Amino acid sequence: MTLLEKLRCLFTFGQGVALPLPPIPDDKNPFDLFATWYDDAQKSGILLPEAMSVSTCDATGQPSSRMVLMKSFDRDGFVFYTNYGSRKAQELEQNQKVALLFHWGVLQRQVRIEGTVEKTTQQQSEQYFHSRGRGSQIGAWASKQSQRIQYEGELKQREAKFSEQFKDQEVPLPEFWGGYRIKPSYIEFWQGRANRLHDRICFERGDNDWHTYSLHP
Ligand SMILES: Cc1cc2nc3c(=O)[nH]c(=O)nc-3n(C[C@H](O)[C@H](O)[C@H](O)COP(=O)(O)O)c2cc1C
Repeated sequence: MTLLEKLRCLFTFGQGVALPLPPIPDDKNPFDLFATWYDDAQKSGILLPEAMSVSTCDATGQPSSRMVLMKSFDRDGFVFYTNYGSRKAQELEQNQKVALLFHWGVLQRQVRIEGTVEKTTQQQSEQYFHSRGRGSQIGAWASKQSQRIQYEGELKQREAKFSEQFKDQEVPLPEFWGGYRIKPSYIEFWQGRANRLHDRICFERGDNDWHTYSLHP
């Protein structure tokens, strides 16, 4: 963390405890509040404020979680990119229900999101893939994400292989790589407050609009 980022963290620390959650907007949509909190997190100096945990379940109901980077969000949902052959992707084939979690510690804030996934369009995946550095694009080809490494040096060898294969040309989007959009049905904002009397505001999607309520901490 740079000195400037450390100073930003110091400046931000405690702000959350001091400030209650804002009033629920008239149209009861959770996205404006998420946008405000995400903006606060970006300004706070936290490393990777876009990092979120994604939890999936396998066919037996065994949950598993991992961190990914949220690359965009809007009223349609929260988007991340990954390998479509990975463990998470295989689990998502069986069960489209997911849980996301953001924790912005210095702001004493947590956002819990539940919903279902759909794949992003090929065009959206292409657009994001080509915005990445060439090294990451080759890395996506090289990694058989979640599969066992068969021999020492396999990954390096595959990296070299694809670097050579795509030498002097644009690296194409692998057909096994792309995005997921989580369409939320539940979003909960948690704000740390003094004496552990924290604020929790929940937004639950109804047929046409969102319902809101608060929970005991
Ligand atoms: C901060 C952070 C960000 C990450 N971002 C991504 C990401 O955007 N996409 C991805 O596929 N893996 C990402 N990873 C790696 C995943 O946590 C995980 O190891 C990988 O996706 C394989 O998970 P799986 O075997 O459950 O499918 C990230 C890890 C960390 C710690």
